[in-house]
Amino acid sequence: MYPLWDMPLCSIRYPNGNVAGTWEQHTIVVQAQATHINKWRIENMADRESHPTPMLNELETGPWPSFVSGIKRLRDEHQQDRVNGVANDLLGQLEHSYETRKGYWKGGTVSVYGYGGGIIPRFSEVGQQFPDSKEFHTLRVQPPAGNHYSTDVLRQLADSWEKWGSGLVTFHGQTGNIMFIGATTENTQHFFDEINDYGFDLGGAGPCVRTAQSCVGASRCEQSCANEHKIHRTLVNNFTDDVHRPALPYKFKFKISGCPNDCMNAIERADMAVIGTWRDDIKIDQDEWKTYVEAKGRQHTIDNIITRCPTSSLSLKDDDSLEIDNRNCVRCMHCIMWRPRLFRQELTRV
Ligand code: HEM
Ligand code: SF4
Ligand code: SF4
Repeated sequence: MYPLWDMPLCSIRYPNGNVAGTWEQHTIVVQAQATHINKWRIENMADRESHPTPMLNELETGPWPSFVSGIKRLRDEHQQDRVNGVANDLLGQLEHSYETRKGYWKGGTVSVYGYGGGIIPRFSEVGQQFPDSKEFHTLRVQPPAGNHYSTDVLRQLADSWEKWGSGLVTFHGQTGNIMFIGATTENTQHFFDEINDYGFDLGGAGPCVRTAQSCVGASRCEQSCANEHKIHRTLVNNFTDDVHRPALPYKFKFKISGCPNDCMNAIERADMAVIGTWRDDIKIDQDEWKTYVEAKGRQHTIDNIITRCPTSSLSLKDDDSLEIDNRNCVRCMHCIMWRPRLFRQELTRV
């Protein structure tokens, strides 16, 4: 039995090493892989009837990729019989919910040793009908700062999850967690132990400090004014106990954006938004600016840049130069984003 990543269908090896061959060669390789998988299935899969899903099937007919198709792939193509069974019963329960217009998941209390949060427990109220998915807990796992992963780590996480969980995963949930969706109570502990060994930790759930999130920032973004990832790590390391054990009257969220564009939407999502900004005045290359005004025209420049400054801090002079009233600038980023090459905010990292 090999993990999903090594399934022949997923790793098409071209006839002559990694060099792409002719279309005929590709077809032969893909056919051989399909035959291999079918053979594997006949030899290894339990004799199980798929639950009929006429209502869910309709969701697959829309223009967008459907989550139903994704779960069916786990039911029909995954090489672990356990995963096939979980996906089958999950679909069965969902179809049953659609038929009866009623949800059958109830919460509860599930945790791992030493923690008080991080797991969203879900027990089925119709577990006798759908036993393979009767415990379907979600683990919230904290992402690295800036969501930087190596492909090796992503494979490792996926392999661990297919070993212990349902194979369903969301990168990332709204709060920023990796959401590993669907493990039994017992496997929740095993999965956590395994990923914790290679450096991952549970996120927050309940009235605690919740999982923090930071933008991609300085590593790829020219607007970055702060060391987002250091801020993120400092906060997380400092508040780790408060993430693991819900001891607050209510939840508390940190989100970190490197500049006022606020790609993390920290202002709306966080109790404490950390947003990088510049310490000095906006720098403007007047020669480049004048070239721009000449090329685009004064009307275009006034309509699109000058009058759109929310605090009227921009003034186009008679000689086509630009004056910025920095004291009244509220750092909305409009002028900077309009032409990043013309404006520079001073990079002042913390
Ligand atoms: C049993 C109760 C609750 C459950 C099971 C629940 C579950 C969830 C889940 C699964 C997420 C997404 C997490 C992620 O993607 O990482 C979430 C996010 C969120 N929840 Fe809840 N929640 C509950 C109660 C509440 C309450 C009472 C509120 C507000 C009064 C709330 C507000 C939010 C907000 C604002 C987010 C998005 C946070 C963000 O984007 O950073 N939740 N919740
Ligand atoms: S918030 Fe600013 S620094 Fe961070 S990714 Fe967005 S534009 Fe770049
Ligand atoms: S950043 Fe916004 S507020 Fe500041 S000068 Fe530019 S447009 Fe005006």
